[in-house]
Amino acid sequence: MSHVEHRGILLAGGKGTRLYPLTASTSKHLMAVFDKPMVYYPLTTLMMAGVREILVISTPGDLPRYRALLGDGAPWGLRVEYAEQAEPRGIAEALVIGEEFIGDRPVMLVLGDNLIYGRYDFLRKSVEDDPTTARIFAYRVDDPSSYGVIDFDDDGTVLSIEEKPKDPKSHWAVPGLYLYPAGAAAEARSLAPSGRGEMEITDLNRRYLERGKLRARKMGRGTAWFDTGTPQDLLEAANFIEAIQRRQGLIIGCPEEVAYRQGFIGHDHLMRLIGDLPACAYRDYLQLVAEDLV
Ligand code: TTP
Repeated sequence: MSHVEHRGILLAGGKGTRLYPLTASTSKHLMAVFDKPMVYYPLTTLMMAGVREILVISTPGDLPRYRALLGDGAPWGLRVEYAEQAEPRGIAEALVIGEEFIGDRPVMLVLGDNLIYGRYDFLRKSVEDDPTTARIFAYRVDDPSSYGVIDFDDDGTVLSIEEKPKDPKSHWAVPGLYLYPAGAAAEARSLAPSGRGEMEITDLNRRYLERGKLRARKMGRGTAWFDTGTPQDLLEAANFIEAIQRRQGLIIGCPEEVAYRQGFIGHDHLMRLIGDLPACAYRDYLQLVAEDLV
């Protein structure tokens, strides 16, 4: 089905205080989740959804390292641009920073510390749905009290949304992946800062909810979602990736492979990328991809 292509925003700023001292000298999203930088995982989530024009937002100090890692995106069939968030003034501020980049398109916003693996049909369906509605996702977690928590009816209309509730109404947490219609930046701009001085993504979502324009889709149990905000989260995510990759012999979150399988780059292009890589397991794997052996 044809649809208006979303622009992508990958938000990788913040202070990462819960990971201190790991984050004393590097950005959280550049740290390893097993064998690759964390940011590869949300980046490939955008790519799996067909998003090819992506704005990476990070702190002034860290942006040069993202540029060094991701460049202009052309080797992976992408167009990657960069913008600064001087202070962590909230997730919704990403839309304001990205206003010009987004233009008149709908936008998919992903947080740099969110890792989603498994079935992606929930996302593909959402991208093709009515683009005038904001879309969030619902993932069952045992303890949702450190997330946005929602309640929604059978057709996905969101009935309530609470931020980090002490007494959650449901087990449905909201992962850091959001789809907004055109005009979301102007909407975010008009939000008042919260008690903690941030432009809250939950407040933005509530705006759409109040107009009946917020829908949630379940990420089923065939999908794994992690956020990697604490040392334990980081280790758990790394162990998960290592276990699946070793068992299957398939690499999760590999931008070269995703670009190739999504048709963003062709076979000759992939061979050139492989030629530029140093001898390593990652390169050996891509060789198997190119030879159609995985
Ligand atoms: P958080 O985990 O809420 O914040 P943080 O990454 O700074 O970590 P900590 O709480 O340990 O200090 O942020 C979730 C994600 O959103 C993370 O990928 C960073 C990003 N983020 C920004 O880039 N800018 C912001 O203003 C905020 C609030 C978050």
